Amino acid sequence: MVRVRAKLVSWDEVVEWAWGLADRVRESGYKPDVIVALARGGYVPARLLCDFLDVENLLSIQSQHWTEAAKAEERAIIKFPYKVDLSNYRVLVVDDIVDTGDTLRLARDYIRDTWKPKELKTAALQWISPVAKFKPDYYYIEVKEWIWFQYPWTRLEDTYQFIKRMLQEKHKETGKTTWTLQEIINGFKEWYGIDVGEKYYKEALRILQEKQIIKQDPETKTITLIKTT
Ligand code: ADE
Repeated sequence: MVRVRAKLVSWDEVVEWAWGLADRVRESGYKPDVIVALARGGYVPARLLCDFLDVENLLSIQSQHWTEAAKAEERAIIKFPYKVDLSNYRVLVVDDIVDTGDTLRLARDYIRDTWKPKELKTAALQWISPVAKFKPDYYYIEVKEWIWFQYPWTRLEDTYQFIKRMLQEKHKETGKTTWTLQEIINGFKEWYGIDVGEKYYKEALRILQEKQIIKQDPETKTITLIKTT
């Protein structure tokens, strides 16, 4: 039984979606002079839009969720604020997905107030309409039911976080602490309904060991959960 709905997004789909997004921008008549990639998810889409819209200028700013004490509240912050004068430029801020919309809205507000562009618009490959508090000016896919999109640029990070979550949940439910690689791979496929391939599972386990969340025993070829919460 799938516990977390996830969809594996391929590189080919990313290119197709970026073409679709570029077409929407072009058809609207908007001609950006500068594209701003919203780090980190917006990097690849922004670079493709530079190509597809023939835009030479690419900047980046990082906006991310900041988990406050005890995870009571999450709010978006601009991680490394800096100032540039964009008063002579038309700007397009690009991200991969608008989920809650907090990060793109904050970046839009920051750029508008601090970089003061002549014109400013927002774009994302995907927009999750039922949960987003912010609608980008341009999007290619409207997602009507929340799902986790496993983009190629977060594949390893997602895999180790997914495995960590799965092992901790399984431990909580059954008390089990030790698994084989195959059990973890099968569990992953069942929990998330996707298969990221052996390289990603192995690298994810290496990272989880580095982070001292699991311990791999080369003798018995087993994986033991150390950090249970
Ligand atoms: N980042 C924020 N929300 C996301 C989602 N639903 N899928 C992939 N990446 C995301």
